[in-house]
Amino acid sequence: MEIIICPVADHVGQIAADKVAKIAAEVGPGVVLGVATGSSPLSTYDGLAKLIAEGKLDLSQASAFALDEYVGLADGHPESYHEVIRRTVTKPLGLDPSRVHVPDGSLGGLASTGERFEQAIAAAGGVDVQILGIGANGHIGFNEPTSSLVSRTRVKTLTDRTRQDNARFFDSLDEVPRHAVTQGLGTIMAARHVVLVATGEAKADAIAHVVEGPVTAMCPGSVLQMHQFATVVIDEAAALGLRLADYYKRVYDSLPAWQKLELS
Ligand code: F6R
Repeated sequence: MEIIICPVADHVGQIAADKVAKIAAEVGPGVVLGVATGSSPLSTYDGLAKLIAEGKLDLSQASAFALDEYVGLADGHPESYHEVIRRTVTKPLGLDPSRVHVPDGSLGGLASTGERFEQAIAAAGGVDVQILGIGANGHIGFNEPTSSLVSRTRVKTLTDRTRQDNARFFDSLDEVPRHAVTQGLGTIMAARHVVLVATGEAKADAIAHVVEGPVTAMCPGSVLQMHQFATVVIDEAAALGLRLADYYKRVYDSLPAWQKLELS
């Protein structure tokens, strides 16, 4: 795992964006992005938008696959991930909407939604770089604790903790859906690179488990220890639980200049 601890919290998004842009440049114009919702990746999307505005990145021919979608929200609901991805990813990054895919969370489509989404990812040639946040309970996507480490896209029941954490996006806890369609841990692991972003002390325990804990379904994000190209970009607060934080800093500081991500 590559662990980048940013001394300045505000730099997390730009460092993560630089990492994603570097991978996108290696892949070429048809890069396939995996995109998360929630608060954590917003600064990464801002960073990518900045690179695009500066003419350093062009995602107009890229495709994108969202990690997840709530089950049963009305079409056009502002907190449905179809809408969130449109607002925070498709528009600001200038993606072609016909190449942006979000799982179908409609009640009528649930029986086949996972299979259809997996087929769409396969048809696009797989995800080149998956951007991830992490839940305080260690979930990635909506793979809650005890999710199969080899799971594929399917419907999951949200934990009370996740519903409470996400209630801030809704008028009341009652309105937070109880189920979601999510890429599985096996689906996420099939991405060629993953870039996980986290900031703030509330994520420190989860990050400690992901990076240094045992690989266990009780902390789904810990499966990333088995990924060949996983990068974790965090601030000092999210790094508070890491026993080897000084070592990770030293490793990063001693990288040759060409391997380092510099703030642009
Ligand atoms: C979002 C997702 C979730 C979030 C996680 C953290 O598509 O799948 O795993 O990344 O819940 O959310 P924030 O960033 O809002 O703390």
